[in-house]
Amino acid sequence: MPPTNDNLHQIMYTSTAAQHMDVADLSDLLMQARETNNRLDVTGMLLYRKKSFMQLIEGEHDTLVDLYETIQADERHRNVITLLDDHADDRDFEGWSMAFRYLGDLAPDDLPEGYSNFFDKGFEASDLQEDSSYGKSMLLYFRDAGEF
Ligand SMILES: Cc1cc2nc3c(=O)[nH]c(=O)nc-3n(C[C@H](O)[C@H](O)[C@H](O)COP(=O)(O)O)c2cc1C
Repeated sequence: MPPTNDNLHQIMYTSTAAQHMDVADLSDLLMQARETNNRLDVTGMLLYRKKSFMQLIEGEHDTLVDLYETIQADERHRNVITLLDDHADDRDFEGWSMAFRYLGDLAPDDLPEGYSNFFDKGFEASDLQEDSSYGKSMLLYFRDAGEF
């Protein structure tokens, strides 16, 4: 049954890849994630840049908590830092079993005003922990910017 708004939940985190991930590694990860997420009615977005991941997953509360445990235990990354773990009124990534942007080639100058320091310290910036709406606004920016 699709989650009602009462039990809709979002989790967002950053992490560090255990090793450099090439295109094949990332597409393996995404294929696996999208298949499972479709089945679990989980949606979200993943960013990758210079061995840093940032991901938001959203779905039914208990399903999401279980999935997050699995993801945290995945040996392909470590140093998982939770930035957001909260109820949500609506999905931000409706229709995306896992949107993905590879940001390795993006220069800070390519980002809009006020966002250029997002890359200064990778996705591990302490700014992100202080204000989860900042990290989320980055994900929404890349969602709306489409593929590049
Ligand atoms: C950065 C990262 C993001 C991931 N995101 C998801 C995801 O959104 N959904 C998912 O099912 N698995 C995701 N995975 C994979 C899971 O950690 C795990 O490998 C997968 O769920 C299969 O687990 P199982 O072998 O225990 O069934 C991700 C892994 C990494 C490293």
